[in-house]
Amino acid sequence: MKVLVTGGAGFIGSHVAEAYCARGHEVVVLDSFVTGRRENVPRGIRVVEMDIRSPSVREFLASERFDAINHHAALINVPDSFRRPVEYADVNVVGTVNLLQAAVESHVRTFIFISTCAVYAESRHLPYEETHPVGPGDPYGTSKLAAELYVQMYAKQYSSLRSVILRYGNVYGPRQQVYGEGNLIAVCIERLNQGQQPVIFGDGMHTRDYVYVGDVAELNCRVLEQPISGVFNVGTGQQRSVLDVYATVARTLDAPYAPVFGPPRREPAHVALSSQRLQQATGWMPKTTFDDGIQRTVAWYRTQLQKWDATPAEHSLDPATGADDSARVGNRPR
Ligand SMILES: NC(=O)c1ccc[n+]([C@@H]2O[C@H](COP(=O)([O-])OP(=O)(O)OC[C@H]3O[C@@H](n4cnc5c(N)ncnc54)[C@H](O)[C@@H]3O)[C@@H](O)[C@H]2O)c1
Repeated sequence: MKVLVTGGAGFIGSHVAEAYCARGHEVVVLDSFVTGRRENVPRGIRVVEMDIRSPSVREFLASERFDAINHHAALINVPDSFRRPVEYADVNVVGTVNLLQAAVESHVRTFIFISTCAVYAESRHLPYEETHPVGPGDPYGTSKLAAELYVQMYAKQYSSLRSVILRYGNVYGPRQQVYGEGNLIAVCIERLNQGQQPVIFGDGMHTRDYVYVGDVAELNCRVLEQPISGVFNVGTGQQRSVLDVYATVARTLDAPYAPVFGPPRREPAHVALSSQRLQQATGWMPKTTFDDGIQRTVAWYRTQLQKWDATPAEHSLDPATGADDSARVGNRPR
């Protein structure tokens, strides 16, 4: 199949592009590089530098004739979304509508939209199933939910368009950067590796559902190749606390475990996702244990940090705002 991966120069999108390529699909990456990096895109994959909001998207799609679009491009930083809600709505909602409109005009048959567990209303009934009430508590989650509604509306109006919405838990693994939220693992690795302690907001007992990026990429292959449609959670069903994550990273790095606590933030206390619907539809199950995933991530960061040491400012600043969030540790879903 000929597939467009938006956000394919970012953390998760680049793994998906790589996995599609390995399975013999013809892959094109579209990215504005606002946070993405060229070095993330595997060799041999064509890259188009374009903003998903651009009017050129329609012309581009019409000229390329894609079978499918896998839409990962988005702004993803929760605190930043409070500072710039209009831009988050513009990229995450208007950009998605621009892509959807171009997709139907160019007779694209499959649209895979990447959403987040941040669309759910907080409750004690864990793990969340897809029927759990929605009610995001931040502009980022709200923009993702609005975009989901557009995807569903397009699929309803254009019966030739198959749509899949994937609500990810906290994805982690190689190529994740420290600027985003939900990036607890990346921040812990970087800080501990530098001999510093990350600051933990609150008591460290908040939990999230961590899923390894390699498993997520494999899932995206199944979703592309199998004729399923609808909304699906992507998680392990397991909760892991901030302290547990921090301890695992410290152990893997052989670094001291000496948590430093800061004031709590307003964020959901616990998140876990049931992926039963996805398992029934595709047979997918996450395979990577947390310890293995952390080891692979640490191994990758060790090689990268040597490179980054030469230019530290490049990776510790939030590229969107210039704010240095790298020393603070949160655990928000994205
Ligand atoms: N990382 C997580 O834990 C997580 C959790 C839930 C959902 N998600 C979703 O997964 C997707 C990918 O997230 P990620 O962690 O890989 O983030 P990322 O920032 O690494 O990747 C996002 C990519 O989108 C690109 N992009 C942003 N705005 C763009 C625009 N206007 N036009 C074109 N490209 C643009 C960026 O340059 C970047 O390459 C996002 O849709 C995010 O909402 C991520």
